[in-house]
Amino acid sequence: MEDNLPTFNLSDVSKHKNKDSSWILIHGVVYDVTKYLNEHPGGSEILLEHAGKNATQDFESIGHSEEARSKMKEFAIGKICDADAQNSDKHERKKCHCEIM
Ligand code: HEM
Repeated sequence: MEDNLPTFNLSDVSKHKNKDSSWILIHGVVYDVTKYLNEHPGGSEILLEHAGKNATQDFESIGHSEEARSKMKEFAIGKICDADAQNSDKHERKKCHCEIM
């Protein structure tokens, strides 16, 4: 399903960093967590701290459950395409076609 999602770059994501619009990048997928802020078991503050950024490392350090990983699919809105994306390995970059949104 993630294959049909639009492509954003890091600068698109970085514009959505407050409670009115919070996008988070995890493993190359962009999540719009705006509606999840008040439901997140870890609290809204930590999501807002990571809004507009690549949160992959911190997301993994917390050790989120399978349930959390399944829940996050609901919020996926796109994929990242940016040479700066820390988590794009060479293979991903190669098959990634950047589009201006
Ligand atoms: C769409 C993205 C996310 C979803 C769906 C999500 C979901 C959840 C869920 C369901 C839990 C309860 C524990 C578990 O099931 O693992 C949790 C806990 C937590 N999350 Fe997230 N999370 C997301 C992103 C993040 C991010 C980016 C951070 C930043 C580091 C974060 C930090 C935490 C923390 C600190 C806890 C509390 C852990 C504890 O009390 O032991 N989460 N999250």
